[in-house]
Amino acid sequence: MVSLLPGPVRAGGVDLKNHLILAAGVLGTTGASLQRVLSLGAGGVVTKSIGPFPNEGHAGPCLVVMEGGILNAMGLPNPSSDFVDELVPLQGEPVVVSVYGGSPEEFATVAGWFAGKARGVELNLSCPHAAGYGAALGADPRLVEACTRAVADLGIPVWVKLTPNVTDITACGIAAERGGARALVAINTVKAMRISTGMRRPVLGNRFGGLSGRSIFPIAVRCVYELYEACSIPIIGCGGVSSAGDVIEMMMAGATAVQIGSAVHSDLRVFERIAGELYSPDGEPSAELVGCAHV
Ligand SMILES: Cc1cc2nc3c(=O)[nH]c(=O)nc-3n(C[C@H](O)[C@H](O)[C@H](O)COP(=O)(O)O)c2cc1C
Repeated sequence: MVSLLPGPVRAGGVDLKNHLILAAGVLGTTGASLQRVLSLGAGGVVTKSIGPFPNEGHAGPCLVVMEGGILNAMGLPNPSSDFVDELVPLQGEPVVVSVYGGSPEEFATVAGWFAGKARGVELNLSCPHAAGYGAALGADPRLVEACTRAVADLGIPVWVKLTPNVTDITACGIAAERGGARALVAINTVKAMRISTGMRRPVLGNRFGGLSGRSIFPIAVRCVYELYEACSIPIIGCGGVSSAGDVIEMMMAGATAVQIGSAVHSDLRVFERIAGELYSPDGEPSAELVGCAHV
């Protein structure tokens, strides 16, 4: 298998310890859990999405683990501005705060709480199950551009996380780039649902949710590939990554680094495990791999 030369990585204005980043919403709910994932080998971590007001999230069931993936409709539960205190012990660590809002102004307010307290912010313009938030804004390129610009004006490196639940993801990527994004993150979950045939009703409390894990990997690779052709800023691949081979494939599609979420559910040591296979002293510089599958 192709291997990579180890060493520090810079992606979208943020210095990382390696190419593997914890994805938003998975274990990123406290400072202690973020610290733990860093100590287990992640090159950087993204927090749970933080919004303008405290939110309890959707009524359960919120999460269903299935073969090949996870279906969730958490509903963006978070403590809002109280989360700022969680980051105090993490000063200097590669932490990116995921933020959400219902307007450009709300995005700027929430991101402003974390200026100087995190290396960057990731805009959640892509959650498929939060009315008025996430993909409700992120499917409209004009709103993507406005939200991105409002936060970029604060002078913090901005990553914009995109939804695959649109006809043309490149329109949103181009809009984010125009608004001043330093990187694109592709992708958030794929809108989906399951029905309990025994109970004759949807399994999730919210009826619809987002599918993640191995089953969405080919969708994520396609989105990264399309964005690489259309945009000039770095792309961070996310969706179904669970092996070193997946990381290499994402990079060949055009990813500068990758995020890992669902794979943490079955293997908390996934970062160490992948890094052990991915890096070798005679590996290739990542710049030679990123986008090499574009012919
Ligand atoms: C339980 C759960 C909670 C999530 N919460 C968030 C969130 O708060 N913000 C966000 O941008 N993405 C959230 N996501 C999406 C992930 O960050 C990621 O985009 C998605 O799961 C695809 O990656 P994966 O297949 O590696 O999990 C969540 C995913 C899961 C499974």
